[in-house]
Amino acid sequence: MFNSNHEQELNKRRTFAIISHPDAGKTTITEKMLLFGKVIRFSGTIKGRGNGKYAKSDWMNIEKERGISVTTSVMQFRYKNILMNLLDTPGHQDFSEDTYRILTAVDCCLVVIDAAKGIEERTKKLIDVTRIHKTPIITFINKLDRDSREPMEIIDEIEKELQLDCIPVTWPISCGKNFKGVYDIHDKIIYLYKNKLFKKKFVILNRLSDSLLDEQINIDLSINFQKELELIINVYPEFNKEKFLKGIITPVFFGSALGNFGVDHLLNSLIKWAPPPLHRQSDKRKVSPREEKFTGFIFKIQANMDLKHRDRIAFMRIVSGQYTKGMKLKHIRIKKNITVSDAFTFLAGDRISIKKAYPGDVIGLHNHGTIRIGDTFTEGEEIKFIGIPSFAPEIFRLIHLKNPLKQKQLKKGLIQLSEEGTVQVFRPIVNNNLILGAIGVLQFDVVIERLRTEYNIDAIYKKVNIILARWIRSENHRSINNFKNNYSAYLAYDSSNYLIYLAPSVANLNIVMTQNSDIFFDTIREQ
Ligand code: G4P
Repeated sequence: MFNSNHEQELNKRRTFAIISHPDAGKTTITEKMLLFGKVIRFSGTIKGRGNGKYAKSDWMNIEKERGISVTTSVMQFRYKNILMNLLDTPGHQDFSEDTYRILTAVDCCLVVIDAAKGIEERTKKLIDVTRIHKTPIITFINKLDRDSREPMEIIDEIEKELQLDCIPVTWPISCGKNFKGVYDIHDKIIYLYKNKLFKKKFVILNRLSDSLLDEQINIDLSINFQKELELIINVYPEFNKEKFLKGIITPVFFGSALGNFGVDHLLNSLIKWAPPPLHRQSDKRKVSPREEKFTGFIFKIQANMDLKHRDRIAFMRIVSGQYTKGMKLKHIRIKKNITVSDAFTFLAGDRISIKKAYPGDVIGLHNHGTIRIGDTFTEGEEIKFIGIPSFAPEIFRLIHLKNPLKQKQLKKGLIQLSEEGTVQVFRPIVNNNLILGAIGVLQFDVVIERLRTEYNIDAIYKKVNIILARWIRSENHRSINNFKNNYSAYLAYDSSNYLIYLAPSVANLNIVMTQNSDIFFDTIREQ
């Protein structure tokens, strides 16, 4: 289908997420972006702990107690007439599988790196997830107003650790107390950093040794900077959009989010280089955002976003067509038509009912227990989107009831919570235990809290001797049966009845894998 209005709506949209290790500056960047987008008017609205506005996204008691954001939210704002859909990810180290899964719903990722720390573990894991869809990545090296590591060293680390070729777009002029600003290598502009919020720019003509540079920066810094720059220009090739869109190279920017310095460069690069809404793969065919008929998939379910409503919200990424209020959609898994009359979007923590939405947008649907992560909605076509996986949990706990008579309710509660993606639940083959698996430890607290408040169940969790999990698969049915007989003590079923191997150590897993070369040990499983 080609419809110029639809095409315009697509070109006007960018859907992205910010990923970083906790404390690298994701929240600060988000806040500055929302300031640029005029969604908020003051700094401190997003994370001003204890202030009234923060309470809007403060969905659960547990969040209040710990002063962190457990849940992933979606923010929409306009920047230079482009509609930005920013899918926020929990920044605390106790984050959940949602954080991984949200990366499957975006078309571009912004990676934030603390200039003093370089690449940290969490960032590496998140980047691995972006590789599933070859998502393009823009890199921001933050906190240049503090003493930092050598920029070249950080770039080498990104190339090595994240296996991404870096193309510096801006280059910092010193750091810490001497931080003077950045030079835009591409546009040959120096942006001066002055008194944090004051920004001045001027163009360097032809020669880098322009006296203006010496005058503005100070001679010593200027000489160093020019030497470094010459090297950079010789070493790194120019930006290549095609390679960026394939996730092979990453443009790199430097700045100070706290000083609101460089965040606009990121926004401009998102507008210029990040792709408009992309196609998605279904089990039968690729679905283009240009198609007339509506399709979308659920990548996240959130309970009790607003305690007043006490409801569950399913977050849907629109893939094709157009959402219009009151339209009929087919819920493919349960083969039912539903009328969607109350989809909404999110604005700085508020829900806003919407009349229209387009590919790339994320809409919230009320969920009365019938929607699961990975569900596809269409105007009737029987397809299912793929690539919205479950990720092998990284930590495990055994769950115990305080009142053993409530086993049935516990199972029911856990099944629902696992369908929402809060936690994964495993039933060992050889006993009646229930084992929880998650990506971040906080999820266990969330489960206990929700079992108590929503299902009236008092439960506790205990440590268990499992450190890795892998889904088991084989093309040969007999191999699976043999494997099941030989390793039953380590095997369990997940909530969709897939077999999973729960390993007590890396060595154990390695041995089992070597001894069973006809079995696949998967770290992700399609929903
Ligand atoms: P996160 O979401 O990635 O976890 O990081 P966040 O933005 O919360 O930033 C973590 C800390 O680093 C915050 O300080 C924040 O103010 C600071 N920060 C972020 N960007 C910069 C920067 O460019 N320069 C400097 N110097 N600091 C930066 P905090 O003291 O932990 O919290 P707060 O009291 O400021 O909120």
